[in-house]
Amino acid sequence: MSFIEAKEVYYRYPQAEKDALCGVDLTVEKGEYVAVIGHNGSGKSTLARLLNGLLQPTKGEIFVDGISAADKKTLFELRKRVGVVFQNPDNQLVASIVEDDVAFGPENIGVPRKEIGERIDFALSAVGMQEYRKSMASRLSGGQKQRVAIAGVLAIRPEVLILDESTAMLDPRGRREVTDVVKKLNRENGMTVLAVTHYMDEVCEADRVLVLSDGKIVMSGTPAEIFSREEELEKYELDVPVPARIAAMLRAGGMEIGRIYTKEELGDELCRLLPKI
Ligand SMILES: Nc1ncnc2c1ncn2[C@@H]1O[C@H](COP(=O)(O)OP(=O)(O)O)[C@@H](O)[C@H]1O
Ligand SMILES: [Mg+2]
Repeated sequence: MSFIEAKEVYYRYPQAEKDALCGVDLTVEKGEYVAVIGHNGSGKSTLARLLNGLLQPTKGEIFVDGISAADKKTLFELRKRVGVVFQNPDNQLVASIVEDDVAFGPENIGVPRKEIGERIDFALSAVGMQEYRKSMASRLSGGQKQRVAIAGVLAIRPEVLILDESTAMLDPRGRREVTDVVKKLNRENGMTVLAVTHYMDEVCEADRVLVLSDGKIVMSGTPAEIFSREEELEKYELDVPVPARIAAMLRAGGMEIGRIYTKEELGDELCRLLPKI
């Protein structure tokens, strides 16, 4: 069994006329970094809520680390394993002082008092916020608040970190701070990451990309594979990263340029092609 396994998952909100998710199959391995993209209303947040047990599927099965996410009886076990960081930095922090905020999660799951201090240390240093331990949360920048929100989740010591557009309300600097922390947690701590985002440069950091449309997974592949299927992406009203778009334009203009999607790759390709022009 994979670390995360969803089989034929359906979800319909009460009173809604159609399913928000219809027949989602998904497997994620431990330590994988998966980006989830899709236009508004495609079901990304619903998927995130189902994985963390905020909602239970109307039909189908979800397992995380062998724990059923479809069963309210195992909700507590599930929540210890799956942490979610949402979009708005201003309504996720529950305490006024940073360390109290980070302590909230572990206190809630009954971590012994003496262990909580260590967890705060670990979590704040993982997001580079240890020097703000005694600070007022309200004084922090958006990026810092989101890093504290991530620390709050890390203090529970989850196996999976889910980010639901956690960088959407941040300025470019805050966005970079948060994506750097997430990347480091994945690469150095082996954290399994599922990141919902609209930013194509963030998608490039992932091992795999899932595209949702109308409650279904319509594309799945590495960033290179997904971004080379431009026409399909367009159909789902999604962008390709700027370097991939430039490459596509050059290709259309007759240049033999490879399937690339990062700035670095574009730079390399252009340097390779320049002498031939
Ligand atoms: N609380 C809700 N009640 C009823 N319908 C909802 C609710 N939240 C989302 N939906 C509907 O479910 C579908 C998927 O929404 P959502 O998962 O929020 O998409 P995304 O995060 O990709 O924008 C949409 O059609 C949306 O209108
Ligand atoms: Mg959403």
